[in-house]
Amino acid sequence: MAVVVLAALCRFALASSPSSHAWNSLNNSVNGRLYQARPVEASCFSTFDESPQAIDSTACAAVRSSYLDPYYRADSFAIYQQAQSSMCLSDPGDQCLLDNADGSPAPLPAANATCGQGSIPPYYIDVRASEDVSAAFAFAYNPWTRNLRNMSYDAAFVPSGCTSRSYNWTPGKPAITVGGGVNFDEVYTFAHANNVTYIGGYASTVAASGGWLQAGGHSTLSPVYGLGADRVLQFKVVTPDGVLRTANECQNSDLYWALRGGGGGTFGVVVESTSLVEPAMPITVASISIPKNATEASQMQWLDLMVNSSLEWAKENWGGHISQVSLVNMTPLLDLAAAQASMQNATTLALSLGGKANVTVVSSWWEVYQGVVVPGEATTGGTARFLNSRLTPRKMFESPAGRSNILAYLEQILDFPAAVYVPFTTPFLWQGAPASTSVNPAWYTSLWHTAMHVDIAWNSTYDDRLSALTKLTNLTRAAEAMTGPAGGTYMNEANPFTQDWKQDLWGTNYDRLLGIKKKYDPKGLLECWNCVGFEDEDMHDDRYKCQGRMQQAIDHALL
Ligand SMILES: Cc1cc2nc3c(=O)[nH]c(=O)nc-3n(C[C@H](O)[C@H](O)[C@H](O)COP(=O)(O)OP(=O)(O)OC[C@H]3O[C@@H](n4cnc5c(N)ncnc54)[C@H](O)[C@@H]3O)c2cc1C
Ligand SMILES: *[C@@H]1O[C@H](CO)[C@@H](O)[C@H](O)[C@H]1NC(C)=O
Ligand SMILES: *[C@@H]1O[C@H](CO)[C@@H](O)[C@H](O)[C@H]1NC(C)=O
Ligand SMILES: *[C@@H]1O[C@H](CO)[C@@H](O)[C@H](O)[C@H]1NC(C)=O
Ligand SMILES: *[C@@H]1O[C@H](CO)[C@@H](O)[C@H](O)[C@H]1NC(C)=O
Ligand SMILES: *[C@@H]1O[C@H](CO)[C@@H](O)[C@H](O)[C@H]1NC(C)=O
Ligand SMILES: *[C@@H]1O[C@H](CO)[C@@H](O)[C@H](O)[C@H]1NC(C)=O
Ligand SMILES: *[C@@H]1O[C@H](CO)[C@@H](O)[C@H](O)[C@H]1NC(C)=O
Ligand SMILES: *[C@@H]1O[C@H](CO)[C@@H](O)[C@H](O)[C@H]1NC(C)=O
Ligand SMILES: *[C@@H]1O[C@H](CO)[C@@H](O)[C@H](O)[C@H]1NC(C)=O
Ligand SMILES: *[C@@H]1O[C@H](CO)[C@@H](O)[C@H](O)[C@H]1NC(C)=O
Repeated sequence: MAVVVLAALCRFALASSPSSHAWNSLNNSVNGRLYQARPVEASCFSTFDESPQAIDSTACAAVRSSYLDPYYRADSFAIYQQAQSSMCLSDPGDQCLLDNADGSPAPLPAANATCGQGSIPPYYIDVRASEDVSAAFAFAYNPWTRNLRNMSYDAAFVPSGCTSRSYNWTPGKPAITVGGGVNFDEVYTFAHANNVTYIGGYASTVAASGGWLQAGGHSTLSPVYGLGADRVLQFKVVTPDGVLRTANECQNSDLYWALRGGGGGTFGVVVESTSLVEPAMPITVASISIPKNATEASQMQWLDLMVNSSLEWAKENWGGHISQVSLVNMTPLLDLAAAQASMQNATTLALSLGGKANVTVVSSWWEVYQGVVVPGEATTGGTARFLNSRLTPRKMFESPAGRSNILAYLEQILDFPAAVYVPFTTPFLWQGAPASTSVNPAWYTSLWHTAMHVDIAWNSTYDDRLSALTKLTNLTRAAEAMTGPAGGTYMNEANPFTQDWKQDLWGTNYDRLLGIKKKYDPKGLLECWNCVGFEDEDMHDDRYKCQGRMQQAIDHALL
């Protein structure tokens, strides 16, 4: 587990102080890899949970100098990429954060600043083998999977238990297997070394087998090659009964289906996943932008063109990311001349507004990763960032009325004011077999995942938080009204305070997912906010007070 999911704040039912017997027994069974998890920033504070403590200058200097570094964050259990996961949202007094706004090194906290556990689980197990996960389940402690780093490539992978004569599996398919802690930086490097293309996210430190894959996982190449969930061939997963299971088309196929979109931290802990890979291939990339300081009228003109062009672009095999001032589109299927012609209207508009256009062919995804993804990654480093997003049906792009509804909604984002962020990444051309994954079926009938985000300061007051999240949730309701029930949202980029979350996240798949959850986790050992198995009344429970109290206040403000 490397980064944080925005909606799902997962936890175990039990994670408080153990009895010394249970403690030693557990620590022994995991070879001494049970650790206490204090927020890493705690070393900089003179109190922890209101008790005085000595500042640890060495540890404090280390966290301050690496505070904005996503790799540093991914390699520690007790800090996340984004601060909403470690703060207690409804109680600004219960967190342990440094000032992330003031560059590097982060300033020392004020002498009287407070530090508390926030939402970081108090203990964790540094997992090195599936047996450690079984032990974690037996004692209900958090397994941390970052150190499961194995990778292998198989040019003719056959899922275990599938016979060589099984339909579709002779003589196997090219696939990469990655351990539960491998991140995209590592798997892209490995795929490049093996001269193949791994279809993954737009980020270095997001894990390939974790929350990304299990909630769907979109890529700028997904329009052609499918979501992560479409491409995964096999999971090895420890279910809450402690049993290591292989889940694929030929065995435990219900679990396989559930893990292909039902969400991370819900059905078990994935120790390894195997995904289909493509040959190395050239990719045509279009980076077109208008000036960052363009007027709102120019931004609307740009967005109007984006809305009007996207259906045609999708049919021509493009995918990418669109904002109110830019697009980065890519496709492995168009040559340079065809790509330039296809992007001509966007190029003309951008240049007329003083912007830039660059359409080019690069030799591989590896080059896209190095040259485009890394410089363009989403900001991490401690911002508390909340998204609002809506799968936007293809049908809306087909009619002038539908397009003008989308444009009117985008205008509300600009008026928010917030940045438009559109993953243009639905599996538009892939259309493999939608019923084989458990993501919201709206993924397969939508064209855009229309999104935006709001950032909340590390030191925001309760009132600041409530006001920003109320505005955000009001906009989420406008998004829901824009698409109606044909839309939906993506767990990893959803507003965690949506009302009809079961329908919005999973549509018609929810009930079947719940049945599988009850089968493999009858005691509800794995639980998280707005995940399969969560119930609305849980919001009143003390263990969800950090989210639940905020949800109630937002709902009240929007009555
Ligand atoms: C900078 C950045 C860029 C992003 N870009 C994209 C993108 O291009 N496309 C996209 O689709 N999404 C993107 N996301 C969203 C991303 O997919 C989610 O944040 C995702 O949940 C991260 O998963 P993780 O396993 O790395 O993180 P974690 O915080 O470790 O885990 C997230 C959830 O999955 C569970 N989980 C983690 N590992 C396992 C495991 N091995 N077995 C079972 N459950 C597990 C955790 O319990 C938790 O509930 C991005 C996020 C960031 C911060
Ligand atoms: C578990 O045992 C190891 C090795 O003895 C020790 O370093 C670690 O602190 C122990 N964990 C806890 C939480 O006490
Ligand atoms: C929060 O910290 C910033 C510096 O990062 C400071 O400018 C601001 O005044 C602080 N806000 C509050 C509410 O304390
Ligand atoms: C710390 O001291 C400053 C200045 O005296 C004060 O404004 C602030 O509210 C105090 N903060 C806390 C958490 O007590
Ligand atoms: C990782 O690979 C090594 C070498 O192939 C193997 O011995 C080990 O068991 C693997 N570990 C896991 C957790 O799969
Ligand atoms: C890499 O793969 C591509 C596509 O299959 C192939 O054309 C190329 O020759 C390979 N390169 C090397 C160095 O093997
Ligand atoms: C945007 O910035 C450029 C360069 O600083 C400046 O020339 C231009 O006038 C600005 N445009 C607007 C609309 O503010
Ligand atoms: C460019 O815009 C014109 C006018 O709106 C439209 O007719 C044409 O199809 C567009 N061209 C492309 C390549 O999208
Ligand atoms: C155009 O894009 C390519 C690939 O993204 C990049 O390598 C190149 O430097 C860009 N050219 C210009 C002039 O920006
Ligand atoms: C986009 O489509 C709308 C509705 O069909 C039309 O009014 C508008 O002029 C189009 N814009 C562009 C830039 O072609
Ligand atoms: C909610 O959004 C509507 C526009 O859709 C606006 O009129 C209203 O003032 C907003 N309410 C809040 C509380 O932000």
